[in-house]
Amino acid sequence: MRKKIKLFDPIIDISEEREAVRILRSGYWASGAGSGKVLQFENKFREYLGSDECIAVNSGTAALNLSLSLLNIKNKEVILPSLSFVSTAHAVTLNGGIPIFVDIDPKTCCIDPNQIRKSISKKTAVILPVHFAGMACNMDEILDVCKENNIHLIEDAAHASGAKHNHKKIGRHGMAICFSFHPVKNIAMLTGGLISINHKQHKKLKKLLNERRWCGITNRLGLTYDVKEIGWNYYMNELSAALGLIQLKKLDRLNRIRNNIAKRYNNEIELDEKMPYEKDCSYHFYWIMVKNRDKIIRKLKQNGIETGIHYRPIHTMSMYKNKKKLPITEKAGRQIISLPTHPNLTNSDVTEIISKINKFC
Ligand SMILES: Cc1ncc(COP(=O)(O)O)c(C=O)c1O
Repeated sequence: MRKKIKLFDPIIDISEEREAVRILRSGYWASGAGSGKVLQFENKFREYLGSDECIAVNSGTAALNLSLSLLNIKNKEVILPSLSFVSTAHAVTLNGGIPIFVDIDPKTCCIDPNQIRKSISKKTAVILPVHFAGMACNMDEILDVCKENNIHLIEDAAHASGAKHNHKKIGRHGMAICFSFHPVKNIAMLTGGLISINHKQHKKLKKLLNERRWCGITNRLGLTYDVKEIGWNYYMNELSAALGLIQLKKLDRLNRIRNNIAKRYNNEIELDEKMPYEKDCSYHFYWIMVKNRDKIIRKLKQNGIETGIHYRPIHTMSMYKNKKKLPITEKAGRQIISLPTHPNLTNSDVTEIISKINKFC
């Protein structure tokens, strides 16, 4: 019997196992002070991206919540795609902002800059694009809109660890890029996230984020401390950071494997609507669009192939429902299927996935 092909699968070897045991035996598992492995991970990630600052937190959700807390968005509008994980919108709501969902570009499933332009109002404070499945949004256009209208940019790069456009010298950026290191992501931790800051006031922003990620506590390395404002319990633990340090070393190599798998899907899947091939994309997964989705997912499952749906659009959920129509997003919500790209797939797994999709679709 052929082994089941999983949609996501963290890639670990003996180095992660040894490090996990070492951290557990050390008894030093966590500290809000941002020291130890957490500090090392932040430094390495900052060097990797070439960014001004990096602040490690305990999830992508925390990264989004904290980044938006840097801007006063109370009763202001934040433009974002609806085809995302719900925490992209929750971060706006939690900070008192109003999420304004706009449609996506059908070629990339990333937010459509033309739709952004149409949704700008006097209340717009932030644009929050999502690099969907690791594909870069059209940052040139988005940054132009931000500049023209004096709007901030915060990026949701939960799918995009290792995508080259996140490097400061390669891509164009706003003030914060938010990453997730949830176990299914390209860097897998127990849970984890990080904010990369590119901003002329980066030192001040880092200080604020440092305090807010640990209950507002100031002068954290001393014995006494003060609290001047509200904060959360969002700091990363030592074990996650230690795993992240090892995973970061492998990231480019593993993303090249993901990229090669995506190239095969792109060349060999006989469907018109599928994720484009892009050499710098991190391919957290690969998407296709099909008409008869439930049946196809069922048949793939019967053949040992696990797939997923990313996502049910947020504006169709009870909490965020409104009358606005987003036809391309809604079509994606009905037709999208995500396929595995993780580097534990063998060549024959990929061949099997392609052949079954070509047979069933
Ligand atoms: C697009 C997107 N944004 C944000 C998040 C939140 O990340 P986390 O699960 O680490 O909180 C996720 C995680 O699935 C995501 O896919």
